Amino acid sequence: PVSADSAGDLAHEVLRALANTDQILSTEAFPKVPFETLKAALDRLSSRSMVVYEQIERQEAVLEPEAEQIVQHGSHEARVFEAVHKALGGLSIQDLETTIGDKNVTKVGQGKAFREKWIKKEDNKLVALVDSIEDVTRSQLRFIQETKSHDPKIIADLKKRKLLNTAKVISFKVSKGPKFALEIVKEETDLTADMLATGSWKTANFKPYNFKALGGHQVAGALHPLNKMRHEFRQIFFETGFTEMPTNQYIESGFWNFDALFVPQQHPARDLQDTFYISDPKTAGRPGPTSADDKQNYDEYFENVKQVHENGKYGSIGYRYPWAEEELVLRTHTTSVSAAMLYKLAAQKGPDGRVPPVRYFSIDRVFRNEAVDATHLCEFHQVEGVIADYGLTLGGLMEFFETFFAKMGLTDLKFKPAFNPYTEPSMELFSYHKGLKKLVEIGNSGMFRPEMLEAMGLPKDLRVYGFGLSLERPTMIKYAISNIRELLGHQVDLNFIERNAAVRLDKD
Ligand code: PHE
Repeated sequence: PVSADSAGDLAHEVLRALANTDQILSTEAFPKVPFETLKAALDRLSSRSMVVYEQIERQEAVLEPEAEQIVQHGSHEARVFEAVHKALGGLSIQDLETTIGDKNVTKVGQGKAFREKWIKKEDNKLVALVDSIEDVTRSQLRFIQETKSHDPKIIADLKKRKLLNTAKVISFKVSKGPKFALEIVKEETDLTADMLATGSWKTANFKPYNFKALGGHQVAGALHPLNKMRHEFRQIFFETGFTEMPTNQYIESGFWNFDALFVPQQHPARDLQDTFYISDPKTAGRPGPTSADDKQNYDEYFENVKQVHENGKYGSIGYRYPWAEEELVLRTHTTSVSAAMLYKLAAQKGPDGRVPPVRYFSIDRVFRNEAVDATHLCEFHQVEGVIADYGLTLGGLMEFFETFFAKMGLTDLKFKPAFNPYTEPSMELFSYHKGLKKLVEIGNSGMFRPEMLEAMGLPKDLRVYGFGLSLERPTMIKYAISNIRELLGHQVDLNFIERNAAVRLDKD
């Protein structure tokens, strides 16, 4: 069986062309077939070892129109000579011009014929000096017209005289392969049940595997860089003994988002600028206890929070303002979840008044009503972390960050003192962005305040680090993105998402 597609037809023509000869040159055998089409047919045959071929590039000389004229009628000087030689008793210049019929040919030809000493001037007439001449230019050009080549010196000379041009020509030198035949036998690409049943597999001609094939481009889904980064972050957290906090609600009570964190109710961060408030329902009321057992504890805790805000407690003078149960917000940070988790930790207090050291993390979306620019969107992903233990110091937190970020290839962190209502001391951390050529903030951190922890009932000597990193910033640094809108939102280039490596962080 022979396939009837055009590449198949061409492939058969190639086989036929090779039937009685050892080798063909495609530019001679198939001068009109486009390069790509021919290559496809040859590839098909060579994959079956029916032919072997080699691609060759040659410089070919091509005659200019003037040179074609010369091949036809002779060179200018030869034409002048012939005219003069034919005329008995010589030819006047006017008569020469009328005989030749071309002013330019007459002029150029005359000059050359003089120099060659083929003609001379005698009594105002041109007369021949020799009986015959050899028209070298014409024979050279004729040779080139037939063979497309000549001695390189001659080619160069004729090129200089603007009679020739050279062009690069690609052709295939094709010869018979070890499985040469005139027919292309159908090749099986699959071993079927039918072939097994009939036994036809024994004689079937199986197509060999092409291990060099690159495979087609898969139009498949691809993970967003933020997802990949999130995966890597989680891995690092799990490797270092963290457990994941549940962050499955975007809407949070003002209580957990702010009050539990000792953020005063008139704090600028709560302003309309930064916080998205839920309009329906407008108020949250008091968030419920975590369980039935927790009711009494919870009421007490809630009272503690109110007191520490209004009058102060645990050695703090508080903010001294009337505190109210508050609104619902789109969470501005996942530190709300950290607070709730620490409150739950307090409930694990043993008879000795101790709680176990813990490490918690989460990576999820938070919302801020900020002006959008190259590095800010009104929502982003926060990498939140909590480490609770005894005897912790700020230096330990700096060291933690250095080891943590080194795991993702970010080194040379810079720390800067900062302020958060819920941490003291607080510090921001920065890393260098090569694209933006500046330090960019990648996170905020600190040690939670007693006003927050003691209200929950946590032991006085328990120290708790907290940090909130942006997932977007390190992603931008790693993927060399200068504008956050290239990473999130409607301007994201899907090719960028598809093209990027599966895993991004450098590891040893
Ligand atoms: N909540 C802070 C932020 O959103 C991060 C943070 C968490 C800071 C915990 C200190 C402690 O930037």
